Amino acid sequence: MSEKQATDVTLRAGRSEDVETCGSICYEPFKAIADQHNFTPDFPSAEVASGLIGSLLGRGDIYNVVAEVDGRVVGSNFLWENGVIAGVGPITIDPAAQNVAVGRRLMEDVLRRARERGIAGVRLCQAAYHNRSLALYTNLGFDTREPLSNLQGPAVEQEIPGYAVRSANEEDVDACNRLCLKIHGHDRGPELLEAIRQESATVVEHGGRTTGYTTMIGFFGHTVGESNEDLKALVGAAESFPGPGFLLPTRNSEMLRWCLEQGLRIVQPMTLMSLGLYNEPRGAFMPSVLY
Ligand SMILES: CC(C)(COP(=O)(O)OP(=O)(O)OC[C@H]1O[C@@H](n2cnc3c(N)ncnc32)[C@H](O)[C@@H]1OP(=O)(O)O)[C@@H](O)C(=O)NCCC(=O)NCCS
Repeated sequence: MSEKQATDVTLRAGRSEDVETCGSICYEPFKAIADQHNFTPDFPSAEVASGLIGSLLGRGDIYNVVAEVDGRVVGSNFLWENGVIAGVGPITIDPAAQNVAVGRRLMEDVLRRARERGIAGVRLCQAAYHNRSLALYTNLGFDTREPLSNLQGPAVEQEIPGYAVRSANEEDVDACNRLCLKIHGHDRGPELLEAIRQESATVVEHGGRTTGYTTMIGFFGHTVGESNEDLKALVGAAESFPGPGFLLPTRNSEMLRWCLEQGLRIVQPMTLMSLGLYNEPRGAFMPSVLY
């Protein structure tokens, strides 16, 4: 599509009747690009992708935008705007409509939304083998922050002496938010509270203090800890790693080596990118696929 054709794209809010189309558009391009590179797709089926899209379209704290060309839905994008920092994704374009600036339009729209809301920074995780998304995000101003390794495997079932892991409850929120603030320069309170209510969050205590927490050791969960021992304790206590697995900054070699020693496998390389506010983390961390 030429520049002129790209302007034929109409953007609008998603509707409940878009779920199936957007779900299959979410599944197909991820599968296509993963197949091309011999990786496992992020979504195992169109039904799983539709389930996610359906739940995102229904949420008040997630902005959505759908792209149409000639009255046909060709893509969608989301902005998770429930914190100081917003997360982008999933963004997906029908393979037949790719590489003609629809993705750029959908990205520019969520970035406009973030600006209008006064959001301090926007983050995303990108499949490192996908040249086009890396180029697009970089052209839009995103900086590469961390190479990530997506890890998956059987439960580690390993306790770290002196580091006790237990389920998080609402009384842990303040201590966890303080920890996140110390490490990232901002908290992720709403996300943490949601995870506590869904009973997926755990905390680790060491020396009588909360020294780490996770909303879930999995694709959609984030984790912070004062040290790698905190991360090890949280990973070691997780019963499974939902979705394609969890994301570990690859430059954290000590932690990556430990995970590999526990039998975990690298599923795919990814890249954490950010635009706007980004504080170099002052502690151990594992981002969610959204940041
Ligand atoms: C990634 C995706 C959303 C991009 O949407 P798209 O409509 O295909 O992309 P666009 O045409 O808007 O933009 C592509 C950009 O990459 C550039 N590009 C493409 N291949 C490139 C390469 N190998 N090297 C350098 N630049 C490249 C294009 O020039 C364009 O940049 P520009 O807009 O700054 O000129 C889409 O391809 C997709 O759905 N992919 C599969 C799912 C996925 O990976 N989603 C993203 C998850 S993070």
